[in-house]
Amino acid sequence: MDSFDPRTYRDALGQFATGVTIITARDADNNPVGVTANSFNSVSLDPPLILWSLSKSSRSMPAFEQAADFNVHILASDQDALSNRFASRSADKFAGLDIGDAGPPLLEGCTARLRCKTRYNYEGGDHIIFVGEVVGYEHDEKPPLLFHNGDYADKKRRIAKPDAGVTSAPVIGKADDVVTYSSSDRIATITLNSPDTRNALAENVIAALVDALQRADNDPDISCVILTGAGASFCSGGNIKQIKALTADQGMSPLELENWYRTHIQRIPNTMDAMSVPVIAAVNGHAIGAGCDLACMCDIRIAADDATFAESFLRVGIIPGDGGAWLLPRIVGMARASQMLLTGEFINAAKAQDYGLVSETLEPAKLLDRAMELAQQIVQYPPIAIRKSKRLLKDARDVTLKEHLDQAAIWQGVLQQMDDHREAVDAILEKRPPNFQGK
Ligand SMILES: Cc1cc2nc3c(=O)[nH]c(=O)nc-3n(C[C@H](O)[C@H](O)[C@H](O)COP(=O)(O)O)c2cc1C
Repeated sequence: MDSFDPRTYRDALGQFATGVTIITARDADNNPVGVTANSFNSVSLDPPLILWSLSKSSRSMPAFEQAADFNVHILASDQDALSNRFASRSADKFAGLDIGDAGPPLLEGCTARLRCKTRYNYEGGDHIIFVGEVVGYEHDEKPPLLFHNGDYADKKRRIAKPDAGVTSAPVIGKADDVVTYSSSDRIATITLNSPDTRNALAENVIAALVDALQRADNDPDISCVILTGAGASFCSGGNIKQIKALTADQGMSPLELENWYRTHIQRIPNTMDAMSVPVIAAVNGHAIGAGCDLACMCDIRIAADDATFAESFLRVGIIPGDGGAWLLPRIVGMARASQMLLTGEFINAAKAQDYGLVSETLEPAKLLDRAMELAQQIVQYPPIAIRKSKRLLKDARDVTLKEHLDQAAIWQGVLQQMDDHREAVDAILEKRPPNFQGK
């Protein structure tokens, strides 16, 4: 007991199975809010009290802090898609669900539902602990949904039934892990989730991010990815302490360092460069150093109007080791890229938009809604054509016009023979929405 290793502790916690709940309430404007939580527990029978905790980085925090009541839904084992939907930072978690107009939303198909009055809120480190008094209870015989070791416990034994319009996809790693992955309606949301380090790209974050990106790209049911950061920053770049340790503690030679770059941070640009599914960066707060480069690897960049960008490598005596010097001039032009790289200056969102580094800036509260809106515009189109459009644009950077035209002609030949192309044309002529099959 003389030393405490947070990582070992976290892994050990993951060994305990927990039940999965969705907690719902209404915000001050009567809009429904809801989050997936597994921190639920019963603490007293007289009076009947329960507690659960919500991360301070949750977008729903202000709504729960002022809500006089909330509902706890203990999910049934076939509700993993619903759990994923409420574990995403999506603006429209309640789309297609029948929840009534007033009072905390009540969801159907659960193992149990508890109606609660908010009694106390407690400071709880990186979470706020909510205590509620149970004033109503109903239950069903359905087995509960369990979470264990970073995944839904009995997933392998059953085929997940997607709920209306929801694609089932497990969260990668543990619920509160360094990168979270959720998906719904053909859109995957990947969130860097180490707000305490401003989402620095530590080794475990790099591995989890690469896994999440590959997972989205390998899934034919995904047509767009939103990449964002939990908390106040998008990404603060490389983990300075870890970078220092490479030479200070581990005494790496130049050749070992070269190999480290190839096998760690450079996995991100290599993965991004090979992807077919488009990625939208929703840049909240800081995008500094490798964080700025990470945004540059995405296909579309939008930013909160308090976002800050910098190619800050010279400040610590190094160069962009992750492709920044290749990516940035292709986005903002050589002169502006040189200015950013050589001065290390911090530029605000307005200047970033002026440079063409981001295409839109928005109030922070509207950033993810807008990213979702753009993603929804993209995913309405035939899945294969979306991926080919992205590849055509990316591949065009490195080829002659003649080579590009050859590639476009060959791909167009394939796309025009696909059912989805015929369906798109028929739908326009028949003035009805299309129904694409990815064929
Ligand atoms: C199985 C599971 C359990 C979770 N448990 C919690 C939890 O207890 N507390 C919490 O703050 N987040 C938990 N999360 C993560 C939140 O659901 C997630 O951060 C969500 O995006 C919050 O939504 P919001 O930012 O729109 O408020 C859990 C996620 C999953 C998949």
